[in-house]
Amino acid sequence: MISEHFESIFGTTPKIEGFTPGRVNLIGEHTDYNGGMVLPTALPLGISLAITPRTDSKIHIWSDKFDGIAIRNLSDKADDHWSDYIVGAAILAREQGYLDNGINIAAQTTLPFGAGISSSAAVTVGVLKLARDLAQDTTSDKDIAVMARRVENEYIGMPCGIMDQMAVAIARPGQALALDTETLAYELVDLPGDYHMAVIHSGQFRQLNEGRYKERKEECDAVKAALGHDNICQISDAEFALLKHLPDVLQRRARHCMTDHRRTVEAIDCLKRRDFLKLGQLMNESHVSMRDDFEITVPKVDQLVDDAVKLGALGARQTGGGFGGCIVACIANDKLETWKEALLSRHPESFWVS
Ligand code: GLA
Repeated sequence: MISEHFESIFGTTPKIEGFTPGRVNLIGEHTDYNGGMVLPTALPLGISLAITPRTDSKIHIWSDKFDGIAIRNLSDKADDHWSDYIVGAAILAREQGYLDNGINIAAQTTLPFGAGISSSAAVTVGVLKLARDLAQDTTSDKDIAVMARRVENEYIGMPCGIMDQMAVAIARPGQALALDTETLAYELVDLPGDYHMAVIHSGQFRQLNEGRYKERKEECDAVKAALGHDNICQISDAEFALLKHLPDVLQRRARHCMTDHRRTVEAIDCLKRRDFLKLGQLMNESHVSMRDDFEITVPKVDQLVDDAVKLGALGARQTGGGFGGCIVACIANDKLETWKEALLSRHPESFWVS
């Protein structure tokens, strides 16, 4: 229990505690900074946090994943340290008036890092929500998600979109968040009870701030400059044809954004109509688009996705920022156990996440 950990480390009971889930994105990748739709759902796994305000400007941070206590300050810059997200969130919480000073904080997580299932968004949103609740402020979860994105963009320097923060702030397991990242309008859609959205780690760990995410963002910025507007996802075929003068690589980046957005719109409809065969097909097509057009997959993940489908999943794809991490696969509940065993034994470095 997080409160017990907190008490044994800091010697007092925490003032407030809470749980924030991780997320898995079912379809719509790299569309969230290009004006498109995404379809993430919350995982049963996540991060528990417990907080007590301090009377000085220090932030004392304990995590079950790291040794010792990190001692940081509200005036600290990001330092490429595991505690940066907590520090960035605490600084913003103070700017918002949720906190007067620093905090003692304990964190316990069941989310593997570098897996593309949003451990960083979960911790950032978690700290901001708890600080808001401590202050008895009425800011909405949606606005908390927007703030959490600012921590990533401005404090950490990671130019991510809004999907992860909205997903972990709003979605619940068993429901997908159909989110329009242009307007932040959303709808919660039930996931099929007779299928499981399995999340399997490829064994290939990734780090978003390695630079390749930024590279894709910059390529999309070049497409936006050529279009004269920011919404690559919702361009028509005719507008796409106008990009012919661009280098082939930029045309392919644009095509991924446009087609993955369209697939996501269709996937939301499939969920509502309970057409899971078609949903699976769209997931497979999304993977191919990430592999060939957006070029964010790696051979190990391609193989895992291929085998997931060969062994009986209706569809499978890499999920999250890319370059490794997890796949998500839609598999009938009654086939789940044999499928899982066969897939994991064919890929000994991969492991079950959820
Ligand atoms: C990461 C980012 C998100 C999104 C995905 C790709 O998870 O944090 O904003 O861009 O990659 O869909």
